[in-house]
Amino acid sequence: MFARIVDLAAHTGEVVTVRGWVTHLRSAGKVAFMVMRDGSGMLQTVLVKNAVTPDVWATFGTLTQETCVAVTGEVRADARAPGGHEMGLNDLTIIGSSPLDYPIQPKEHGIDFLLDHRHFWLRSPRQVAIARIRSDIEYAAHSFFQARGFLRVDTPILTAAIGERSGLFSTEYFAEGNAFLAQTGQLYGEAAAAAFGRIYTFGPTFRAEKSKTRRHLTEFWMIEPEVAFNDSADNMLLQEEFLSHLVASVLERRRPELDVLEREVTKLEAVRPPFPRIDYGDAVTTLQQKGSPVRWGDDLGAEDEALLVADHDRPVFVVNYPKRAKAFYMKENPDDPRTVLCNDCLAPEGYGEIIGGSQREDDHDRLLHRLREEQLPEAAYEWYLALRRYGSFPHSGFGLGLERTVAWICGAPHIRECIAFPRMMHRLRP
Ligand code: 4AD
Ligand code: MG
Repeated sequence: MFARIVDLAAHTGEVVTVRGWVTHLRSAGKVAFMVMRDGSGMLQTVLVKNAVTPDVWATFGTLTQETCVAVTGEVRADARAPGGHEMGLNDLTIIGSSPLDYPIQPKEHGIDFLLDHRHFWLRSPRQVAIARIRSDIEYAAHSFFQARGFLRVDTPILTAAIGERSGLFSTEYFAEGNAFLAQTGQLYGEAAAAAFGRIYTFGPTFRAEKSKTRRHLTEFWMIEPEVAFNDSADNMLLQEEFLSHLVASVLERRRPELDVLEREVTKLEAVRPPFPRIDYGDAVTTLQQKGSPVRWGDDLGAEDEALLVADHDRPVFVVNYPKRAKAFYMKENPDDPRTVLCNDCLAPEGYGEIIGGSQREDDHDRLLHRLREEQLPEAAYEWYLALRRYGSFPHSGFGLGLERTVAWICGAPHIRECIAFPRMMHRLRP
């Protein structure tokens, strides 16, 4: 019978077969040890020369790191073993051999080398832990919105209308001219919000930004809810509830992985609503007092964001940025028309912006004015403007960057570890 390592507790005292990859080998005369991994856990196996056939003993001698094997033996409880179980081997077969020059060895490797070998690097415990946490965050995101009656809408990746200011990837599109890879699903999400009330999108987005920072990818995943009749204040309530839910579910389900990553969990436990709200103008004053050269009207850079959150133990909202620092679709602030009704959500511990959100401009003429100010091609936005003519409605939404959120929750220094195959300015392979 085949079993996965994670399920071995139920097979204590039974003989089962486990399939997986060799991670460690050690031999001490007539007894040999092998640790293997099957993706669900780690298993220590013990081989006693006198207890197996000479063939099995000889086969064991040919094993190398990353050989794919099937092992059969009795499952024994052993509190000292990883996972609490050990297997006494009766039989061993090689499914796939692995030459001795496996690129990733138990020693320090440089980051470029590891990224060049990402297809193998994925197998290492730290990368497995991050990937599990990422997958769990995705699951928690879906459950959060599904439980609240949101409809998931899948928006196009090939688009004519652009959403954000940062760089565009384009590709020829038959007789239609250029198609752009979506920077956001938001504009389509807004159309869907008028059809379904509350929606979310979850998909890859693309930015041809020439940024080589620890928080920029050219392809990243974004979760974007859009809610009819929510104003900017409602939008922030939803964000803090959502983010707290993601953190709580990782704390509940992924302690072992957080341990592998040596993440300080007390820092995550502090993430509870309400998050502080800091007006953009006050943020600029505070930053200037702390010595930042920032001036009213600028967007906030990574250093400014880190300075702002330094005094807080949980994420912080900076609200109502200047119009000129933000995208065309944000609603003018009636109390100060130089600003828009928006927020960034900054993660603690210097991780910076993980969410951008706003109430959307629902006045047709003001939106048209902003499109012209930004010199955007009006024809591509005809349908988007038309949403403001037929039953315009107040609405708000936000976009949470998945990799930045994973990096923060995992305590990873760079987001390139937080997606299976990162795409960056100088990296398209593997
Ligand atoms: O602030 P951004 O550009 O907002 C939008 O795209 C809106 N349309 C969202 C909305 O209101 N529906 O991006 C949102 C988030 C950022 O806060 C950040 O977490 C992430 O997306 N992000 C990136 N992540 C990795 N690499 C990049 N180059 C990113 N650019 C943005
Ligand atoms: Mg932003």
